Formats: sequence, structure tokens, C-alpha cells
Amino acid sequence: MFKELEEINSRPAPFQFYTAEALWNDKHTSEQMLACHLNESVDLSSRNKAFIDRSADWIVSHFGVGAETKIADFGCGPGLYAIRLAKKGADVTGTDFSERSIQYAKEAAAQEGLKINYLLQNYLEFETEKKFDLITMIMCDFCALSPTQRKKMLNTFHRCLNADGSVLLDVYSLNAFDQREELATYEYRLLNGFWSSENYYGFLNTFKYDEEKVILDKYAIIEEARTRTVYNWLQYFSQESLMKEFEENGFTIEECYSDVAGTIFSPESLEIAIVAKKS
Ligand SMILES: C[S@@+](CC[C@H](N)C(=O)[O-])C[C@H]1O[C@@H](n2cnc3c(N)ncnc32)[C@H](O)[C@@H]1O
Repeated sequence: MFKELEEINSRPAPFQFYTAEALWNDKHTSEQMLACHLNESVDLSSRNKAFIDRSADWIVSHFGVGAETKIADFGCGPGLYAIRLAKKGADVTGTDFSERSIQYAKEAAAQEGLKINYLLQNYLEFETEKKFDLITMIMCDFCALSPTQRKKMLNTFHRCLNADGSVLLDVYSLNAFDQREELATYEYRLLNGFWSSENYYGFLNTFKYDEEKVILDKYAIIEEARTRTVYNWLQYFSQESLMKEFEENGFTIEECYSDVAGTIFSPESLEIAIVAKKS
């Protein structure tokens, strides 16, 4: 028991383990996640409906989305952006590794008579000959990736972006990092049954890596029949660190906003949204 508690409370090296699929594609948690995506009034998994409407309208007008605009949405979830953009005539490819979300997205597109190319795939393995005018990764999914994975992702973006195409993505800022605190807690059925339909004890350890500007929410979920650990990493960025990372990978950040709805950039913002082009 002492050894196990030590293991639960141990601090790994930043991005030492990658367990994103256990969070998004597990039979039980993916159902909880989809419910969060589809809850129109909260900012969990996807942002609230009013924001997504506003954000999609801004994307359409800002990037001149119309018939034939080729868009790749990485981590598309249940397609809340993809469907709005496809309705404007765009040729949309949505990639996500959550079977439940892709299934929902496909059904929603079929109901609207829209042809959207949904791929059930880890976006880190994305390969295509196709070139896109606009690449999106929305709701700070870029932050969940390690430096090596982000490099790989930026190389993929570079390879499949048209010469004059744009990347639109958002990240958490250092203001958001400053608001986070370390924590160690445990609770019976932590997060009200989010992790399992069976009885379980959930431990949550939040670790703050001040030098790297990384936060880890480490969940140890202990059921009668199984124990698992899920590592939820987030990299936080300054404008400078984001620019440097993009520049090192062949991009220039041309515009900065406070969110992906085009809100004017404020140094106090908890998020930074950027538009980048190939250098
Ligand atoms: C925070 S949600 C955002 C969903 C969507 N962009 C939105 O704003 O409505 C992140 C999404 O990325 C997906 N995802 C996370 N890591 C992934 C990976 N390595 N490959 C494919 N999809 C991934 C998750 O399944 C989830 O649907």
C-alpha cells in the first residue's frame, strides 16, 4: 500500500508518458467526453455553442471560406467546427482518434446531407497527398503534445499546407499557467463517475513544472478489477515561445488574437490564438 501510494504521488519527467487515447477513446470516458462536447452551455471538451457559432463565423469571413476551400481540422471531435465550415461549401477533412466522436460526426454530416471526410486516426500519424488552404487545431490540443510531438505535428502541417495557406490554432498562455496550483487529492468515484461505471477510487495529483511551463494532471483510477494512470499534460506558452517554436519549424506567426473567434489580443488573455503561414 505504501509503495502504491508513493507511485501515485510520484512526479514523472515532463511528457514522460502519453496516455491521451485512454482519456478520449476508452469506452466509458469517451461517452462522458461526447456528452461534454454536445453540452451547448459549457466549455468542456468543446467550447459552448454561442462561442463556436461566433468562432466559425469569424473563420469563414477571416479566411474567405467558401466552395472548394480545403480545410483540415485536427482533433475535430464530433465535428462541431467541421459541419459549420462544410455548410459554407468547404471541403473539410476532420481527424480524430475517438471512435465515438467520429461516429457521431459522420451521422451528423449524413443527416445534413454534407460530404465531410472524417478520418478515425491518431493525428500524429496523419499522411496525405492532399494540400489544404486552412489547417485548424482548436481548443488548445496543441498544448497536450510533447515538444517532440509538436515538432512532428508542425512538420505535418507544413507538408500538407498550400504555399499561401494558413494554420489557425490556440494555446494556453502563461496567465493561465500562473492560475494553476499543485494539488493532491483523492475521492470515491472522482468526478462523479466520469472514469468508470464501476465503483472506483480516483487520485488526482497536479504537478507544476515551473521551468518548462508545463502542468500535469495525473489521474490514478483504482477499480476492483483494474488500475490505470492517465497523464493529462498541458504546455503553456508565451507569445515569444510560441513564435520561436513555429519559426523553428518553418512558419511565421502573422496574427495573434485572444481566442479563435478573432478577439483582439490582450496581454492578460488566458489563451493565445495564432494565424501562421509558411515562412
Ligand atoms: C479538446 S477536444 C477539441 C475538439 C474540437 N477541436 C472542438 O473544439 O470542438 C480535443 C480532441 O482531440 C482529439 N485528440 C486528442 N489527441 C489526439 C490524437 N493524438 N489524434 C487524434 N485525435 C486526438 C480528442 O479525441 C478530442 O476529440
